[in-house]
Amino acid sequence: MSEGQNKAHIIVVGNEKGGSGKSTTAMHIVVCLLNKGFNVSVVDLDHRQKSLARYLENRLNYSKAHDLKLAVPDVYILSRSIQGDVENMMFEDTTNFTELVSELHKTSDFIVFDCPGTDSNLSRLAHGAADTLLTPVNDSFVDIDLLASVNPETYKVDKLSHYSEMVWDARKHRAMTDRGIIDWVVMLNRTTALDAKNKRRVNDAMNELKQRISFRYIQGLGERVVYRELFPKGLTLVDLREEGMEKMTMSHVAARQEIRRLMEDLNLPGWNNSKIAAE
Ligand SMILES: Nc1ncnc2c1ncn2[C@@H]1O[C@H](COP(=O)(O)OP(=O)(O)OP(=O)(O)O)[C@@H](O)[C@H]1O
Ligand SMILES: [Mg+2]
Repeated sequence: MSEGQNKAHIIVVGNEKGGSGKSTTAMHIVVCLLNKGFNVSVVDLDHRQKSLARYLENRLNYSKAHDLKLAVPDVYILSRSIQGDVENMMFEDTTNFTELVSELHKTSDFIVFDCPGTDSNLSRLAHGAADTLLTPVNDSFVDIDLLASVNPETYKVDKLSHYSEMVWDARKHRAMTDRGIIDWVVMLNRTTALDAKNKRRVNDAMNELKQRISFRYIQGLGERVVYRELFPKGLTLVDLREEGMEKMTMSHVAARQEIRRLMEDLNLPGWNNSKIAAE
């Protein structure tokens, strides 16, 4: 454990929008943290798709098959309760969640939660426990609408979305229970250089939103094949040079810079002078 404390830093990657890049982003963060030597536990709350758990299972298998000794975290899949009435299910979810998290605090520096693209009780519990909440959004007004509806001329916020209301409640609840602060970070994902006008508009809207809803807005990741092609091997571009497995292309180098910037922008405790941060 870092600094002898039994308290892990909880990172929750969430957005009630399917396919915005939660699992992909979570995977890259997990590998960066592992490569720096942190103890990382992963909880996949998307018990249907299990994308992050599958990604990490592929990593373990590939590592074994090629004798690579890749760092792999402990992975847990938490399924929602389906027993009894709503109250019962909520109680069981809360018990399972609390028990798992209190165990993981003992052994982890970081606990990374990957949420499903839909609302669920477990997802709400994770949002409420987050130290860092990371929300990837695509650079499109359809995605921005999942944060708030904005005035088409001024981009002033007309109405908060269901998701933003939920984060607001989680923050309030957290402040009241343990005076904790949820650092909400919204990042763009899959940005392309193609449509500069749309990019500027999205940027303007995000800058307006960040003040109204109170999140940190960071640059995030571009649209790149390397973020999706390595899933079957369970690798990320952060592994490529480490293992000398594949030649780095210019796109890989640019992607590494994005990842490095993402990790710096997240402001995670103890993140400095890491291997990829130092390059
Ligand atoms: N920056 C990126 N560049 C290219 N492809 C990406 C990028 N980020 C994500 N993808 C691809 O987009 C798709 C959706 O990504 P991902 O599964 O990470 O999203 P998600 O938010 O976890 O989805 P879900 O809500 O279904 O869990 C995947 O095919 C993934 O490989
Ligand atoms: Mg996912």
